[in-house]
Formats: sequence, C-alpha cells, structure tokens
Amino acid sequence: MMKKNLMKISIPALLLALCLLAAGCGKNDPGTEGQTSAPASETAASTADAPSGSSGAGTDASAASPAGTAESASRILVVYFSRTGEQYTVGVIDHGNTAIVAEMIAEKTGADLFEVLPAEDRYPMTYKELTDVAKREQSEKARPAYAGTIPDLSAYDTVFIGAPVWWGDWPMIMYTFFEENAAALAGKNLIPFSTHEGSGLSGFDKKLSSAIPGSTVLKGLAVRGNDCQNKQDDVRKSVNSWIGALGF
Ligand SMILES: Cc1cc2nc3c(=O)[nH]c(=O)nc-3n(C[C@H](O)[C@H](O)[C@H](O)COP(=O)(O)O)c2cc1C
Repeated sequence: MMKKNLMKISIPALLLALCLLAAGCGKNDPGTEGQTSAPASETAASTADAPSGSSGAGTDASAASPAGTAESASRILVVYFSRTGEQYTVGVIDHGNTAIVAEMIAEKTGADLFEVLPAEDRYPMTYKELTDVAKREQSEKARPAYAGTIPDLSAYDTVFIGAPVWWGDWPMIMYTFFEENAAALAGKNLIPFSTHEGSGLSGFDKKLSSAIPGSTVLKGLAVRGNDCQNKQDDVRKSVNSWIGALGF
C-alpha cells in the first residue's frame, strides 16, 4: 500500500520536473539564440561578395558607386577603336591616340581590353584618304564588320567605350558594335570616351544611350589626340581623376 502511494506521487512529480528542465533548457540554449543572430556574420560575407560592390559598405552604396573592389575590377571591360598611321596634328603614329587612353583606363581599373578592328583592310594610312573613306561611310550610314570574337559580355558590369571623333560622330564601325551587342549591353554601366582635335565628346554619350536602350550611360571623357602622344602625364592625370570621380 505504502509502495503504491509513493508511485502515485512520484510520477506526476517526475513529469513536472522534466517539463521544468525542458523549459529551462530552451530559454538558455545558446545554440538557439546563436541561430537567430548568426545572419549578422552572413550579411558581412554577402556584402563582401556583392557582385557590383563598391567599398563593401552595402548594397545601396554598391548601386551608387559602380566599382572599387578587386572583384568588381575584374568585371570591367574597355572596348575601343583607334587608328595608327597618319593622324591630324601628330604625323604618323604607331600607337593610336584612343588606344593610349584605353590602356590607361585598363591599367587603372584592372579592366580587360577589346579592340574593335575592321574585318577588312578598309582604312587608309594617310590622313586625307582616311577622312574621305570615313565621310563616305557616314553618309551611307555604313555598318562595317569588325574582326575577332567579343569577350562574353555577361561577365561585365561596366564597359568603357572609346573611339576617335570622326566627322563629329562615332566612327560607323562602332555603331556596328553597338547594334550587334545592344541586348547584351542593356542594363550595364556604359562610359564613353573620345579622342579628338577640337570637337570634345561630340555627343558620344547621348548617341550611345540611344544606340543601347536600357543601359546607364555615365559621365564621359574627351581627350585631345595630340596630348595622347605628347603630354601623356597630363592625360594620365585626367584619366585617373575622371575614373576616381566615377567611383572606381
Ligand atoms: C576621318 C577622321 C575624321 C575626324 N573628324 C574629327 C572631328 O570631327 N572632330 C575632331 O575634333 N577631330 C576629328 N578628327 C581627329 C581625330 O579625332 C583625332 O586625331 C583622334 O585623336 C584620332 O584618334 P586615333 O589615333 O585613336 O584614331 C578626325 C580624324 C579622322 C581620321
């Protein structure tokens, strides 16, 4: 009888004790609390991994400032067209003016380079003949083919695009590039640059924006062709300060 009563008291007491123990454990379980606060460290990692991250300061800063980390630097491409041979005010050159600027941009940002070269040998090496060919292409709205295989554009967030001003406009071969790659370039940051002998940027930015709907065209740079050959330190300073102001 005595044994039976003891059993009656001890089972509910045992259950109560187990409940209290379980509740107490749940409340103070560092594992459970750790899980709710753990994303703090995950957030830091994903900010660093943000695809277009600028300074690791967060997504908003990344959107406002297109580049700045080693990772984003590898997502920049410089596309350019440039001629050697006889050029205005500089005589015969073996390194094109626009090519010089393109290389400075790549050096500063760690970008890849792609040179737009004509598929056929259509551009004379003498200035007067070249201007005649260019004028004819412009009046015919020609779309000369370019050579080579473009890098996979989906690998880039930002594309610098440069060329000499030809008769107040982009050379027609650049429109071939824009039109053939408009879909792949939509949604990207595009940054125009020109070399010229007085016409400045010649509306490269607006023309680029119209040629590639859906892109974001950022502030461009115009450089005197003669300076590319004869004042490279000054040109490099301008290029670096422009790139810095863009947030790279
Ligand atoms: C066909 C042709 C047309 C040009 N038209 C212009 C022009 O309209 N405005 C201007 O400022 N410079 C003009 N220039 C000068 C070039 O823009 C300048 O020399 C440029 O730096 C050449 O760059 P590149 O060596 O990369 O080809 C023209 C040059 C050529 C060959």
